[in-house]
Amino acid sequence: MPARTLHTAGITGVGMDFPERRLTNADLEKMVDTDAEWIVERTGIKERRIVEPGTPASHHGEGAARKALEHARLTPEDIDLIIVPTVTPDMIYPATACLLQDRLGASNAWGFDLSAACCGFVYAMQTARAQVEAGFARRVLVVGTEVMSVIVDWEDRNNCILFGDGAGAVVLERLPEGEVGFIDSLLWVDGSGADLLKQAAGGSLHPASHETVDKKMHYLYQDGREVYKHAVRGMAKVTVDILERNGIAPADLRLMVPHQANNRIIEAAQRRAGLTPEQVMVTIDRFGNTTSASIPSALRVAVDEGRLKRGDLVVLCAFGGGFTCGANLLRWTAD
Ligand code: COA
Repeated sequence: MPARTLHTAGITGVGMDFPERRLTNADLEKMVDTDAEWIVERTGIKERRIVEPGTPASHHGEGAARKALEHARLTPEDIDLIIVPTVTPDMIYPATACLLQDRLGASNAWGFDLSAACCGFVYAMQTARAQVEAGFARRVLVVGTEVMSVIVDWEDRNNCILFGDGAGAVVLERLPEGEVGFIDSLLWVDGSGADLLKQAAGGSLHPASHETVDKKMHYLYQDGREVYKHAVRGMAKVTVDILERNGIAPADLRLMVPHQANNRIIEAAQRRAGLTPEQVMVTIDRFGNTTSASIPSALRVAVDEGRLKRGDLVVLCAFGGGFTCGANLLRWTAD
């Protein structure tokens, strides 16, 4: 039996902020041995945004947060919790949530970073929702922000074509009584996949040394082919399972907003879940894989394109390093 909840939570604001600088597939052809058409065919990516050198994750995180607050008609002082899912925090510590609290002037908030790789936003949403439903927080800011370009090896053609920088944020807040927003989450971890997608050095296992730098251990490592297989299975399964266990027919879902890692992964998950292409949000063509920023920014694009209206049923789903996997089911409660 599900736990009795005291309140309901829903999204009331969404924002995104991306660097101006575009890196196209044609630009990549000049950097590594690749082919623009190959990249589009295998991934769906046409271009990605890259920060100006020296720009930390908190920069575009702040921009996205301010836009989400504006959308929710709130000020930073209204926020009582900031959660920042990210794999590229400004520093190991203090948490980027602390830096954002200060940048925003969110003087009534506590906060922390959350490490769940590409699944970070979905995990953060469940964490935020639990705080609101239990009555511990009234308004939570969830800010997915990444500077993937600093952990990508720009000589590794297998991976450098995939990632981009940017930020997306939502405000999740307590809803008036009787209104339904957040419905369900389904989350899991499979740590046996840890070695297939990782940034090995910089932690306590492999602290920074000349050796870790020489061996490129501070860069993202991925066995793309293996991760691909797991990602297709995982994303499809959580989407099917969360719809089934809530008695929702695929046709009744307005939008699936998947993590944007590879368009072929998204298409396979869409087909397995019995959804039409029109029911799926795709932004990977313009932004690449922005890790924890991909779902909130895709939500913002969906609103801007008129693809989300109040009351619509939405599934967010993701798969990432860890392995981490999960889905959130909710009714859209923002304007
Ligand atoms: N340009 C041209 N050729 C490339 C290339 C590039 N940028 N990168 C790799 N290739 C080559 C490979 O070396 C391989 O050649 P080989 O067979 O001689 O070794 C060939 O293209 C095909 O590689 P393959 O791995 O079969 O391609 P793919 O269709 O699986 O696509 C990825 C590769 C990385 C795009 C794909 O595996 C992928 O998206 N993986 C998962 C990524 C992901 O989702 N990560 C995040 C999870 S959150």
